[in-house]
Amino acid sequence: PSETGRVLSIQSHTVQGYVGNKSAVFPLQLLGYDVDPINSVQFSNHTGYPTFKGQVLNGDQLWDLIEGLEANNLLYYTHLLTGYIGSVSFLNTVLKVVDKLRSINPNLTYVCDPVLGDEGKLYVAQELVSVYREKVVPVASMLTPNQFEAELLTGLRIVSEQDGREACNILHAAGPSKVVLTSINIDGNLLLIGSHQKEKGQPPAQFRIPIPKIPAYFTGTGDLMTALLLGWSNKYPDNLDKAAELSVSSLQALLVRTVNDYTRAGHDCQSSSLEIRLIQSQDDIRNPEIKYKAEIY
Ligand code: ATP
Ligand code: PLP
Ligand code: MG
Ligand code: NA
Ligand code: MG
Repeated sequence: PSETGRVLSIQSHTVQGYVGNKSAVFPLQLLGYDVDPINSVQFSNHTGYPTFKGQVLNGDQLWDLIEGLEANNLLYYTHLLTGYIGSVSFLNTVLKVVDKLRSINPNLTYVCDPVLGDEGKLYVAQELVSVYREKVVPVASMLTPNQFEAELLTGLRIVSEQDGREACNILHAAGPSKVVLTSINIDGNLLLIGSHQKEKGQPPAQFRIPIPKIPAYFTGTGDLMTALLLGWSNKYPDNLDKAAELSVSSLQALLVRTVNDYTRAGHDCQSSSLEIRLIQSQDDIRNPEIKYKAEIY
């Protein structure tokens, strides 16, 4: 399938390494998309390193860029993609951007990775949670929370697969027709749960993809996963299961390559976070071999 589009991607930029826009722009381009990145921050490296330096864009500066594009009639986008957002004022401006883009293209798809935290730890200011919950989730077309984020956004504790499916139902009722819980941890095993509500008020089509946990810690994988899901779900708009199979298969091939490369270089993969081998994995992104199959509930 050749369906592509024009994506406005508002995410972090790092000079070195692959998180945020650095892990989203290249794969979307490989899948045939025109991608216009707005860098919400420019940091030397990701924040998992001992130190980092750089600049943060504020809401007014974001709006300046939007006004510049608008003044030249350059604001037609098929997709908006957002990831980590560090402040309420920036998030409120993103909401203004959603409205503005939809006034130009009412069919705009907004793919939102509601980055709030992971494994029980919040890594944004607490006040962002209610803004996501009350204002962002309702306007999102597709949402890609992890387990902790889904809990924060629904108020539901997710301790079983059934809880995960119920969280998706709650999120559909709040807005997005597509929800992917990118991983939930059930008894030490990773599980992706996907849910597509094809018609408002109807029960969604749901599926699971079991993912073997690799004993290493990666950064940038969440941002990459959401970008892949955008890319593939637009090519298979009625088959979120297929889009997720392709995305998981690309990502896992990349993670295996990353671990193999580090191991070959004599590095202990469990001692620190690994930078993903994004560029080296371009064939796996363009043309993934489906090794991870969706199981329909
Ligand atoms: P989540 O944790 O829910 O997957 P996230 O936004 O917290 O989402 P990551 O933790 O980076 O982002 O995970 C993104 C994707 O990468 C998930 O689909 C996950 O299964 C995969 N992934 C991340 N770490 C590993 C790992 N150690 N082994 C296997 N897959 C992994
Ligand atoms: N953006 C920045 C600036 C970061 O430092 C990080 C992680 O350290 C991320 C985004 C998120 O990476 P991930 O996709 O692993 O959640
Ligand atoms: Mg995670
Ligand atoms: Na996620
Ligand atoms: Mg994430």
